[in-house]
Amino acid sequence: MPSKRMHFEEELMEELNDHHEKWKTDLDYDGLWDGGGYSTSQHLMLMTSIVCGLRAKRIGEVGFGRSSFVLADAAKRMSATFVTCDRFDYRYMLDAAGIDWVTYLEGDSDKFWAHPETAKGYDFLFLDYMSSRKKSVESCYKDLKKAVKAVKQNGIIAVHDALPGKYNVAAALVHLQVKYNDGVEVLTLPYNYGLALIRRCTKSPHGEIKDTWPKTQEPKDE
Ligand SMILES: C[S@@+](CC[C@H](N)C(=O)[O-])C[C@H]1O[C@@H](n2cnc3c(N)ncnc32)[C@H](O)[C@@H]1O
Repeated sequence: MPSKRMHFEEELMEELNDHHEKWKTDLDYDGLWDGGGYSTSQHLMLMTSIVCGLRAKRIGEVGFGRSSFVLADAAKRMSATFVTCDRFDYRYMLDAAGIDWVTYLEGDSDKFWAHPETAKGYDFLFLDYMSSRKKSVESCYKDLKKAVKAVKQNGIIAVHDALPGKYNVAAALVHLQVKYNDGVEVLTLPYNYGLALIRRCTKSPHGEIKDTWPKTQEPKDE
């Protein structure tokens, strides 16, 4: 006896066939960064998915590196603005890769937080510069507050090196949860040094990210 068909099985099969080549490319692409077990490797595909899922139009990052190439690629795919900041000038790497759609800010994170681009708000932020012991819990907390201020309602902030007990930013995230209460949701993925994901739940002067996926109606059973 044939088994029961899955919801929208035909559509799913069509999509799988259509996207197979593309998915394979994405996986290979991730593999490029995965080989050496770099610090953010296991978070790169996830961040790409979040950017695409949010239909992000404005993406920001502090802490340049492998993530920047992946986010630049996602930004191009989504026709989004991507602003990245590092206290060192790594622009030549973007130039070498032929990536000219990124706004590069050379300087301390304070420059990023005070920049007119940041004042316009972001859909997605990636913060990967807070792992040093020299960066105090208070300083991390201050920056997290700036990040929450800078995103839209439902905007997502990803913070790397967030494993509890290991990095100061983890304690700052606990403060944030206590102080903001229902204003933010925080989840920390416990691998690859820890990736915290913060969602701003409150209204924002930068607007709101709404779920725009249309819900497909199932045909009624005959
Ligand atoms: C861990 S690396 C970033 C790795 C990168 N995101 C990746 O996926 O490969 C941290 C970077 O943050 C930069 N950095 C550290 N503190 C900073 C600060 N206060 N402001 C701006 N950049 C900072 C460092 O120069 C370094 O390039």
